[in-house]
Amino acid sequence: MEFKSKIKTIEWISSKNVSRMVDQLVIPYEYKLVDIKSSNEMFNAIKTMIVRGAPAIGIAGAHGMALAAIEIAKKTKNKEEFLKFLKEKAEFLKSSRPTAVNLMWAVDKQYELVKNSAASVDEMVQMLIEHGIELENDDIKINQKIGDFGAELVSKKGATILTHCNAGALATVGYGTALGVVRSAFAKDNTIQVFADETRPRQQGARITTFELVMDNIPVTLITDGMSGYFMNKGMIDMVVVGADRIAANGDTANKIGTYNLAIVADYHKVPFYVAAPLSTIDISIKTGKEIPIEERDHEEVTHINGKSICAQGVNVINPGFDVTPHKLIKGIITEKGVLYPPYKESIKKAFDN
Ligand code: MRU
Repeated sequence: MEFKSKIKTIEWISSKNVSRMVDQLVIPYEYKLVDIKSSNEMFNAIKTMIVRGAPAIGIAGAHGMALAAIEIAKKTKNKEEFLKFLKEKAEFLKSSRPTAVNLMWAVDKQYELVKNSAASVDEMVQMLIEHGIELENDDIKINQKIGDFGAELVSKKGATILTHCNAGALATVGYGTALGVVRSAFAKDNTIQVFADETRPRQQGARITTFELVMDNIPVTLITDGMSGYFMNKGMIDMVVVGADRIAANGDTANKIGTYNLAIVADYHKVPFYVAAPLSTIDISIKTGKEIPIEERDHEEVTHINGKSICAQGVNVINPGFDVTPHKLIKGIITEKGVLYPPYKESIKKAFDN
């Protein structure tokens, strides 16, 4: 069943040839759209997290390639030169954030599209714009499928679903992955509710997940990251659904820091722990989670909240943005091709083969 989400996180505006996106740095105080007009601006938008969430930064990368193509075509109509510069821009865009593989997936897909094409430079520009729009539209359809498959797993009436970070409409083009499951489940049973982890240090749960669920009138309770065990122990959580930034061929899953702790706590309390992600988040080129690059982020994210220091000056800080949940702790991976179950090496391979 379809549940309409009001948010469109990123959209190509053909009349202006710009990528229009929701500025996630000002949520929940403001809902503001910004136009990204160049590939350099796109690099900064991804790096500074104006746009964030694995599928959303994938589409940002695809739009970034279209913007790069427009820029390069103004300088040269020579195909070899065009492709050489486009390849450089592809590497540049991919270097904006290292963990979410959707960025690499979408940028590479764009480059592959034109690499051996017989088209002229101007035709290639058009191809890249149109393909970017296609990937954007596909993302919503894929999330709706993920949502519907995931909703079938919510068997209890009035279930409470715990989630971490923001894997919602604002982490995708629309609808969301983990929150796509919530939206589809809510369309079937409007007595379900969400518990949202705050998600330190960037507070995507507090700032973004609560914002979009309140906007859609889906009941949500905000908790801090350390509270999940307390509520599971009381029997108040029926399932955990999180998103993913990169999934290895064996099912090991990188997601926002703190996800691993949550999976261990869920395992201890026998609360089913699910990952919801499109196949574009699965990196079959890597065997296990050990190979997933983990972004190390600015220490100020830990030492400061809203520009104010919360700790002693000069303290040591480490700030990995993501952790890896071992596949053994994951009950199922909800994809657009259905729910994948262990052994993941086989079910993931099968999903890619079909
Ligand atoms: O650092 P962020 O906000 O980009 O991290 C986002 C997450 O970890 C999400 O859970 C993940 O990208 C899945 S989004 C559908």
